[in-house]
Amino acid sequence: MATKYQSLRGTKDILPEDSRTWRYVEGKISDIFARFGYQEIRTPIFEMTELFVRSIGASTDIVNKEMYTFPDKKGRSLTLRPEGTAPVVRAYIQNQLYQKDEVLKLYYKGPFFRYERPQAGRERQFHQFGVEVLGASSPAIDAEIIYLGCFILKSLGLDNAKLLLGSVGCSDCRPAYEKLIVSTLKESTSKLCDDCQKRYKTNPLRMLDCKNEDCKKQLKKIPSFAGSLCDDCKKYLNETEELLKLLEVSYTISPHLVRGLDYYTRTTFEFVYSGLGAQSTVIGGGRYNNLIKEFGGPSVSACGFAGGMERLISVLKNEGKIPSLSDGLDVFIAQIPANTETAGKGDECFKTAFKLLQEIRCFKISADMDYRNGSLKSQFRKANKLKASYVIVIGEDEIKKGIVKLKDMKTGNEENIKLDEATSKLKEKF
Ligand code: HAM
Repeated sequence: MATKYQSLRGTKDILPEDSRTWRYVEGKISDIFARFGYQEIRTPIFEMTELFVRSIGASTDIVNKEMYTFPDKKGRSLTLRPEGTAPVVRAYIQNQLYQKDEVLKLYYKGPFFRYERPQAGRERQFHQFGVEVLGASSPAIDAEIIYLGCFILKSLGLDNAKLLLGSVGCSDCRPAYEKLIVSTLKESTSKLCDDCQKRYKTNPLRMLDCKNEDCKKQLKKIPSFAGSLCDDCKKYLNETEELLKLLEVSYTISPHLVRGLDYYTRTTFEFVYSGLGAQSTVIGGGRYNNLIKEFGGPSVSACGFAGGMERLISVLKNEGKIPSLSDGLDVFIAQIPANTETAGKGDECFKTAFKLLQEIRCFKISADMDYRNGSLKSQFRKANKLKASYVIVIGEDEIKKGIVKLKDMKTGNEENIKLDEATSKLKEKF
């Protein structure tokens, strides 16, 4: 049957078979975040538009082309969150979290929204897991955050991600680098795409993130940022590298890693997977030392990353790293005769089964039954489909004797047990 309504382009249903994988991956990631001392934060799905314009940057693709922005009933401009850093910074300042802890380690996960052209690994509603460490500037934080990204990928069985590391300097050294970009491309501006021609005038650094092939050819001429860093930024990068080496994290220095958001200062990094096609970045992040102050908060720095769930799961599937995740049921209750029409009308079999079912569930044992009027054979079919470990059979004869039949579905062994001892017997098994 075809439905009249379809999910919107760039959005996907996560069906039960897939949600098992999602739960597995999310569970592993949340455990690792906790192990590294992070606490969860949940921010609203929508915020004031200005929050994103001012943090991500007015000349970025996200703000220019990709935001889901709409007026509310009072005419205020709201936006579905395209990323998590700005909302976390907003919450950090609004709730004065800086008073609770000098260095706060937060993590988040959930849906994000960008109006991009959908393709493999690029959705309009996608899901991120991310961390932000707010309140301190130390290469040890950058190194630990990068190590954490590495740790997550390795724990899920992925060890061939390429880590790209860069630095976008600070407000002291960036202007000189921007001048260098402008002078390097002076003769070739006509070969740049329309967007880059604008960026050339308004935000030259942003050109380095352009995905247009013709632009990429021109951008190769631009020297690496590393050569233009001021002494402090150079030292910071060297110290971060030293710590990464200490932790045996291999990386490649990327000459132009500016990423798609304007708030970065100093460290930028990405974990990329070659098998993913055009959308190869699984995790991306960096340091942002000015954002908290610019938003009216204390003068403290921060660093973080976010990973894409859809891309991560796709890599895990490609690499065969999803273990077989059986969501099997512990106990299935079958009844003879199976007659739900008489349920509640004195059918002893149904009533006994129905009551026992709820009792079993109270002991954290997963249990279910068939609510249709199926034959015993069809009930066993259903038990198999649900991958039940045990089936309890309740029939009129059994009720008269005060017993039920317990079948071990793995071994095929059957035993009669007393009805009033059924739950305690099951408790021993789980
Ligand atoms: P981002 O690189 O824009 O960074 O996004 C992080 C990750 O989200 C990407 O590496 C990718 O895996 C995933 N992602 C982004 N857009 C899409 C999409 N349309 N469809 C599927 N997956 C997508 C940030 O969002 C920063 N807030 C990261 C950060 C945190 N920096 C510092 N702290």
